[in-house]
Amino acid sequence: MALNAQGDGGDRPVLVFDSGIGGLTVLREARVLIPERRFVYVADDAGFPYGNWEEAALTERILTLFAELIATYDPVACVIACNTAFTLAGAALRAAFPDMTFVGTVPAIKPAAERTRSGLVSVLATPGTVKRAYTRDLIQSFASQCHVRLVGSVNLAAMAEAYIRREPVDTDAVLSEISQCFLEKDGRKTDIVVLACTHYPFMANVFRKLAPWPVDWLDPAEAIARQVRRVVPETAGGGAGEAQDTAFFTSGSPDFSTVRLMQGFGLKVAAR
Ligand code: DGL
Repeated sequence: MALNAQGDGGDRPVLVFDSGIGGLTVLREARVLIPERRFVYVADDAGFPYGNWEEAALTERILTLFAELIATYDPVACVIACNTAFTLAGAALRAAFPDMTFVGTVPAIKPAAERTRSGLVSVLATPGTVKRAYTRDLIQSFASQCHVRLVGSVNLAAMAEAYIRREPVDTDAVLSEISQCFLEKDGRKTDIVVLACTHYPFMANVFRKLAPWPVDWLDPAEAIARQVRRVVPETAGGGAGEAQDTAFFTSGSPDFSTVRLMQGFGLKVAAR
């Protein structure tokens, strides 16, 4: 088998990581652009939700987990499909595993600042992402001319998990989580809401229905997938072969509806 520069004949998988099922919003886009590769989806559901973790403890957990994941799966690249994890531990991961290619997810503040017409932008994220220095730096570097409102939601990631598993969601509760995103100031209104948690695009249709006025809900999944395509070598013929994409849950025991959801995404849940 011919090897490319990364010592890989196309058989090394792309690993997509999140605290829960939110990374599937990135996985589905990445698969479209990288059809020849096998994917391994990893959900740290034993640690979910990441939004309220103390920073040092969460960094430690993610580093320990990746030492195991890299050794087990030998991925060609790791996609951190989680804003809460990457804004905290992205630099530490790159330092700890210098031979691994990491693609991160950060709040899409730069594209929002470029697109807004009213200058009022909101960033809907977990409480963890909202308080990160990384997020403040993005605003300072790319959106200093805008009024950026950070909205940290404690419950929305869990609501999105329930919603995608077809459990009933309380729309009043969803509205109270997103209503802070809508701001009117000097005759102008928020026109862009950045979906800065990979769970939230699953609920974008609900958000659209509940929004007091139409806004652009910015989902970075496709842009992340394009970046993954850039860093993952294309392999003629492909290494995906017959092997099925798999999903691994750190709890070792995802519930029935989660297993069905994974199957719906063409992922076989791996035994621990
Ligand atoms: N999906 C994760 C993110 O993008 C966070 C979900 C959570 O663990 O609270 O931030």
